[in-house]
Amino acid sequence: MDSIKYLLNDNQLPENWYNLASDLPEPLAPVLHPGTGEPVGPDDLAPLFPPALIEQEMTSERWVPIPQPVRDILLQWRCTPLYRARRLEKALDTPAKIYYKYEGVSPSGSHKPNTSVPQAFYNKEAGIKKITTETGAGQWGSSLSLACEMFGLECLVYMVKVSFGQKPYRRAFMESFGAKCIASPSETTASGRAILEKDPDCTGSLGIAISEAVEVAAQNADTSYCLGSVLNHVLLHQTIIGEEAIMQMDMAGDYPDVIVACTGGGSNFAGIAFPFMGRKLRGQQDVRIVAVEPSACPSLTKGRHAYDFGDTAHLTPLVKMHTLGSTFVPPGFHSGGLRYHGMAPMVSHALQLGMCEATSYNQLECFAAGVQFARAEGILPAPEANHAVVGAIREAERCKREGKSETILFNLCGHGHFDMQAYIDYNAGKLKDYAYPEDEIAMALAGLPSFGNS
Ligand SMILES: Cc1ncc(COP(=O)(O)O)c(C=O)c1O
Repeated sequence: MDSIKYLLNDNQLPENWYNLASDLPEPLAPVLHPGTGEPVGPDDLAPLFPPALIEQEMTSERWVPIPQPVRDILLQWRCTPLYRARRLEKALDTPAKIYYKYEGVSPSGSHKPNTSVPQAFYNKEAGIKKITTETGAGQWGSSLSLACEMFGLECLVYMVKVSFGQKPYRRAFMESFGAKCIASPSETTASGRAILEKDPDCTGSLGIAISEAVEVAAQNADTSYCLGSVLNHVLLHQTIIGEEAIMQMDMAGDYPDVIVACTGGGSNFAGIAFPFMGRKLRGQQDVRIVAVEPSACPSLTKGRHAYDFGDTAHLTPLVKMHTLGSTFVPPGFHSGGLRYHGMAPMVSHALQLGMCEATSYNQLECFAAGVQFARAEGILPAPEANHAVVGAIREAERCKREGKSETILFNLCGHGHFDMQAYIDYNAGKLKDYAYPEDEIAMALAGLPSFGNS
């Protein structure tokens, strides 16, 4: 019988996370203090993060041990399955072999708990009582809510206003795990009030929600801030995906020629790709790696590689990344998790070094691919994940044109069961594509900070 699923046992759950920084041919640019323009040290980050996470942010160790209490919780749903998409291959009539790693089996339906659990664990260990965060699609807020509940921490989530309206079930999910969820921009913070004063109808953005969450954490000693993507330690926690996938591809007697993942802040992309990238850098096996982003928020394909703030109110340190400008508010397309002006510094650096490629698609093409995938494989992807699906399908179609039987692996980073309004709109023909917001991006890029960008 032809295998469909490649499953690992509990005792095969990885014991370490993989750190790409250890294998990079050139080190990452330092993070800069926004006041002085000097590289930040651990003390500068201490108001926001616990010591263990600051250490992980800066470490150059190749393997970082996963604490046992974290592994015990991850085992609730990990190891996640690797599927061979035989029905999709047939529907596409392609000679390519398509595999996907399915992260939608987690309790919140995506890859996000891979990092919310360790982040909550390290904060609890450091004596923190309360955690603030932002959420776009609601996936990250849901994942952090459940992790906070598991470690007895309070959780306050600023949810981008457009998603707050689109996704009441995500809000209910967070509240069921005891979190408080506020639509951002809000009147509860100075950053939120400043935005609302200028634009009372502002639909919000991840950059604005981050400002609100950081502001609350910085002002309260018992409160920490957690970020769902972008930072080195978040990417590190997600590498468990790729480490499992390496074992599962081995079970299948195969190895990817090309890996595809969607990119919002870069964490699920890094999660599946970095362990394979490390093998390539260590001279083990070659692989092409493709990042897929929305055409309406194209930080990797059209952004500048420059120092910028991670948030709109400029409360965060400056990081060197692909950015569309921290004041850019992306149009309200239906992939809330991909509506971020910047990209993880480590993913940006990998692109600069030619270690991966980037491409972009409009939302209608992504939804069409998602529905095509669902009809073949039976899983309805999250709108964000549809970007990976369309990227993988285009690769399979190329293989058909070229008569090549390449192996394609993509990250199906979440299911779309909380995103049904998007599918209702798509099925009713109400979704539209947004033109690339050239003028707004040019304006936002004109405001890049001077530090590091001369
Ligand atoms: C399902 C899903 N995929 C992807 C993303 C984008 O984030 P990242 O690029 O960090 O994986 C999000 C973010 O909320 C998400 O919810």
